Amino acid sequence: MTTTITLNGQPIAVHAEPDTPLLWVLRGELQMNGTKFGCGMALCGACTVHLNGEPVRACITPLSAVGNAPVTTIEGLQGPEATALREAWTAVDVAQCGYCQSGQLMSACALLKKTPRPSDADIAAAMSGNACRCGTYPRIRAAIHQAAGNKVA
Ligand code: FES
Ligand code: FES
Repeated sequence: MTTTITLNGQPIAVHAEPDTPLLWVLRGELQMNGTKFGCGMALCGACTVHLNGEPVRACITPLSAVGNAPVTTIEGLQGPEATALREAWTAVDVAQCGYCQSGQLMSACALLKKTPRPSDADIAAAMSGNACRCGTYPRIRAAIHQAAGNKVA
């Protein structure tokens, strides 16, 4: 069936059954491959997107749960937090293989929007669902702190 979702600020028609995971729609139908498939079971965070501004796991979010809520993927992530995070990610040289990193950035951006100056504990709590097999966690934490300090209001 055809459904219209709001993706990165634009209405877009998708052709999928209501129980299709949003991740399949993004990657399979729309070829938006910035959002990654990792575990498919809400365990790794690689598929994290924003739904109505909140980080969600696209692998377990059915199309039927999206409704009129705006979906934002790494391709459409904008704003002062996103800009500061991208700059900090580069400055700190966070990424290794890069596979987990779009999900990490989506979670980090949601954190900074709610908590502009997060503590180490805030970062640990917000990022605990994003796994990195390369072990970039210390640099992710450093980059989030750096982005929080550099963010333009
Ligand atoms: S692929 Fe969705 S949480 Fe791992
Ligand atoms: S950078 Fe390789 S999995 Fe995180």
